[in-house]
Amino acid sequence: MAGERLIHLLRTIWMVFLMQVLSVRGSKLWEVPTAPLVPHTNLSTRLFWEPQCQAQLRHLQNEGRITATIPPKLEGHWVSSRCEVRPGPEFLTRSYTLYQSPTRLFRALQHYYSDSECQVPTYSLVIRGKLRLRQASWITRGATEAEHHLHKVGMVIHSQKAIHHLATRLPSSCLGLKAEGHLVLHRFYELFNAKAEKDCLGALGFSMMELELLRVETHHHPHGRPAQELFLGDVHTEWNERVHYRPSGYQEPLQNAMHHIHPCPVCGLVYRASEQHPPILPPSPSIPLNLNGNWVSQRCESRPAVLFLTRLFVFNEEQHTWEGTYHHYSDPTCRQPSFTLSASGNYVKVGQSIKVRGATELVFKVTHAKVIVFDRALLRELNSTQNGRCGQAGGWEAGIEQDITWTNGCDALGIRLPHKEYELFKMEVDRKGHPLLFNGERPTDGSSPERPAKRPTSFQTPMVQCSTSVRVEPHHSPYSDHSKGPKKSSANALHSSVILLSLLNAWIIHLF
Ligand SMILES: *[C@@H]1O[C@H](CO)[C@@H](O)[C@H](O)[C@H]1NC(C)=O
Ligand SMILES: *[C@@H]1O[C@H](CO)[C@@H](O)[C@H](O)[C@H]1NC(C)=O
Repeated sequence: MAGERLIHLLRTIWMVFLMQVLSVRGSKLWEVPTAPLVPHTNLSTRLFWEPQCQAQLRHLQNEGRITATIPPKLEGHWVSSRCEVRPGPEFLTRSYTLYQSPTRLFRALQHYYSDSECQVPTYSLVIRGKLRLRQASWITRGATEAEHHLHKVGMVIHSQKAIHHLATRLPSSCLGLKAEGHLVLHRFYELFNAKAEKDCLGALGFSMMELELLRVETHHHPHGRPAQELFLGDVHTEWNERVHYRPSGYQEPLQNAMHHIHPCPVCGLVYRASEQHPPILPPSPSIPLNLNGNWVSQRCESRPAVLFLTRLFVFNEEQHTWEGTYHHYSDPTCRQPSFTLSASGNYVKVGQSIKVRGATELVFKVTHAKVIVFDRALLRELNSTQNGRCGQAGGWEAGIEQDITWTNGCDALGIRLPHKEYELFKMEVDRKGHPLLFNGERPTDGSSPERPAKRPTSFQTPMVQCSTSVRVEPHHSPYSDHSKGPKKSSANALHSSVILLSLLNAWIIHLF
């Protein structure tokens, strides 16, 4: 939520860093620059007050659990593990087959639906083309950049309603229809053919730019076989931008059909489906939105541009208060911290979303914010801002938290307080019955959804509930206490541990 416009500042810092490295080292195709040196913070020491959430975050950092090679091994069949929501909203499932190099041909199936549970298919696209891997991405660390060429794209329509809808969007000349011709259910229509120079894709807002940024992760489990996930580039939240947008973040990963997470009933359905028989997903048990408790990231998350982060949210439904802690990192495994933002405030539930069934519209107000910086370039930047514009000028030190509430936010970070955001949330249960919380995808251009018209229509990667306890004293402690325990704030203990760590950090910085 709040404060993610930091992206732009961070991107600037990163680019300056890249230019320095580039001028010194020159570029090799598969070589990735190392991040500015930042000490490893022991996240778990700072999260000791919340054992389950701590365990979850530590799990994320567990070294060696996730491996990713550059260039990635892409061969295989990759499928969606749930009904995916794209900005718009668009609901779809994907089933992509990537063939062995050197040809690197691909065949991608996209099934679109009219409902948010992927139960009413509208049409399917069959996309054929070729992929060329270019180089390790210097913008999105851990990713590989690629170039794609479409050969053919075809479409099969599954519902009468979709026929009406598509007939108004697709020029009939495109589909080879006669003047009085109608679209017909279940017939295969060619929308694009590179050789015949035929292109009807513009009207659909269709793009495969997602193939231009790739990452394959192998998740090793102590028991059982490793699972493989294919991350493809993100889709721009603005409809007009999506056809040209070169991704710098990811969508929800696709699962390898042979080595996927277990259990994954949707994986099998999507794998077995075809353009004539699109997968119809089972109804997901809908659960009413109850935000009470603590929620934490399930993976090291990526954001368009250069940021990697983990999120920790605490909500109190009775008092309508929330707190979010965003740990930002410079590497795709979330081990090198760059800065931490803690924001808090209140929220109201507005009502059910009309656009995305099962989702709830909310309005969030950010009233308080604190920042801890580890990145040295960012430190210098903040430390030299005019007093009163971003915490205490000259008071910024690595690992030391500064309150930026009294300066109404921080100009340099693009945070203005108080700040309002229009949000979209939904809850689902995961394969094991644990509640999952989805919040709205951020506008790709780095702006903030500060108007109702900018309310998201798609979601970020879900967070999992790590504790159901509700905070006792809002706004005093940036973190939660166990409601059933004694009413003792952990803020002091936390504060001293942060200072201890930062002393350690400062020392390490001098060493380098
Ligand atoms: C982090 O701190 C915890 C608790 O003090 C400790 O058990 C763990 O070994 C530490 N991890 C690292 C990487 O220093
Ligand atoms: C921040 O500025 C103060 C005052 O100019 C200086 O003493 C301090 O060393 C600076 N800190 C960093 C991390 O640059």
